[in-house]
Amino acid sequence: MSAVRKGPWNAVLRRTTRLSPSCSLLVFERPEGFPGAAPGHFVSIRVSDSTTPLLRRPYSIMDLTGSSLSLLVKAVGRGSAALRAARAGDRFDMIGPLGGVPFPAPAGPEAVLVAGGTGLAPLLFAARSWRRARLAVRTTLIYGAATGNELLRDLVKAAFGTYRFATIDGGAGFHGDVVALCRDLVSRGRMPAGTLYSCGPRGMVRALDEAAGSHFSAHYTSLEEIMACGVGACRGCTVPVRSGGERVLKAICSDGTVFSAGDILWEEWEE
Ligand SMILES: Cc1cc2nc3c(=O)[nH]c(=O)nc-3n(C[C@H](O)[C@H](O)[C@H](O)COP(=O)(O)OP(=O)(O)OC[C@H]3O[C@@H](n4cnc5c(N)ncnc54)[C@H](O)[C@@H]3O)c2cc1C
Ligand code: FES
Repeated sequence: MSAVRKGPWNAVLRRTTRLSPSCSLLVFERPEGFPGAAPGHFVSIRVSDSTTPLLRRPYSIMDLTGSSLSLLVKAVGRGSAALRAARAGDRFDMIGPLGGVPFPAPAGPEAVLVAGGTGLAPLLFAARSWRRARLAVRTTLIYGAATGNELLRDLVKAAFGTYRFATIDGGAGFHGDVVALCRDLVSRGRMPAGTLYSCGPRGMVRALDEAAGSHFSAHYTSLEEIMACGVGACRGCTVPVRSGGERVLKAICSDGTVFSAGDILWEEWEE
């Protein structure tokens, strides 16, 4: 049996849309032969023809259709700024889809998805995939950003049945972070039970699991840590987890990106 081809692909940017002061939607033509992907899978892009930045940059797949591949890109440094400045017609050397275990489909009728910042991307892909598969699942998104003008409201409204926003500056929605909002909803009996899905900074995911994890039947999280090779070779992205009663180190890029939050040895990982 032949292995699934992961590229490199010559990906053509079809259009780019500024969504907020720091984030853009980048829609590429799906390269011919690009395999199917699941929520939690990602691509790795060479953002420059020069040696700086040298390493490819990883981005979660936000959507994949028969003809397009969409990414959400936040400018945080040189690589992401170069990507965000790209124009329609530009070509990028891309590999993917990368990643091992994706988000599983919900076991029951309720799914709560909690996103911090660009952690929204794989959760949008999840909600869209379940809808296309006609799964009978109600999705509630809880999504936070630093400020009101960084909230990607239009993307959210098109993809989720129910959504709640949180902002650190109180510019829109709940005044505080998504963890505080979740804690508040659970304490007031306003949080649906079911399966919890999350993606965001490491501290957010850990605090979320501690604050609200026990309310849900399961908590799956996609980890987006700094990566080098992206394919399981360098061991630069490992996370300690409990597996079969033992402590093992898993590579986020090739064993994940999705893990059961309750299996992550958070204290050890923080050291
Ligand atoms: C699996 C995966 C999926 C991702 N999906 C998305 C996505 O959908 N949208 C998006 O905008 N970003 C995503 N990221 C993060 C994105 O890869 C980084 O923002 C990007 O590589 C930064 O490159 P840069 O050259 O602009 O920044 P750099 O100049 O390399 O770094 C700028 C700053 O960002 C920090 N940084 C860089 N990478 C990360 C990271 N992974 N986590 C936390 N801090 C980081 C650096 O420490 C530094 O402080 C994802 C990362 C991973 C591993
Ligand atoms: S980035 Fe090299 S093993 Fe994950």
